[in-house]
Amino acid sequence: MSDPVTTMKQEVGRAAANRVQSDSIVGLGSGSTAAYAIEYIGDRLAKGEIKNIVGVPTSFQAEVLAKEFKIPLVTLDAIDHIDIAIDGADEVDPQKNMIKGGGAAHTREKVVDSLANEFIVVVDDGKLVDKLGSTFLLPVEVIPMALAPVMRSLAKLGGKPELRMAAKKAGPVVTDQGNLVIDVKFDHITNPGEMEKTINNFPGVLENGLFVGVADLVLVGKIVDGKPEISQF
Ligand code: A5P
Repeated sequence: MSDPVTTMKQEVGRAAANRVQSDSIVGLGSGSTAAYAIEYIGDRLAKGEIKNIVGVPTSFQAEVLAKEFKIPLVTLDAIDHIDIAIDGADEVDPQKNMIKGGGAAHTREKVVDSLANEFIVVVDDGKLVDKLGSTFLLPVEVIPMALAPVMRSLAKLGGKPELRMAAKKAGPVVTDQGNLVIDVKFDHITNPGEMEKTINNFPGVLENGLFVGVADLVLVGKIVDGKPEISQF
């Protein structure tokens, strides 16, 4: 039997997958919650509940899962729009602004999620915060040669930057693009939109994990009286 957090992730993943309609181009998110959405989209395709779906993966992980669940894939040069994207998040505030990048996939995620006509975020209720930066460090993808100056610029901005180290590899995490990730602790992020632009302006920064004004709908999984419930905002 799965633990409550896994059950919540499965249920929000399923709820989001149920919103995918036939004949659509779907942005496929990264992380453990989005993975369930990919699995359930694959299930619906296999059962014939939906037809003619193509996916745009946001990471190597999403690409591998889409292949496993037999979702045909396209690249952005082959399409002119994305109908719906489904992706997880690490923190979500009441304005639907988010921190993403816990899986170091935020650069491609921002490209794909921003292009979608409808971007659905799938989270468990532990991800909801009043202010961004309360619980999660802000991920910043940086090209390797710019690591030191970007770390200094982030410290000057009031953050505490640390290079993300790999768990099962000696040395740092390397992104799907071959870059590094700096995780930054800020005491408070008062203006996420400003901060997103300021950090992206540091030479050598590829993208940071602040997603401001991108999400259309947030599906939240919660356990109530031992049972999963989905709410939305
Ligand atoms: C990947 O880089 C992130 O943006 C993920 O979307 C995020 O970490 C959510 O992952 P979980 O659903 O596994 O918490």
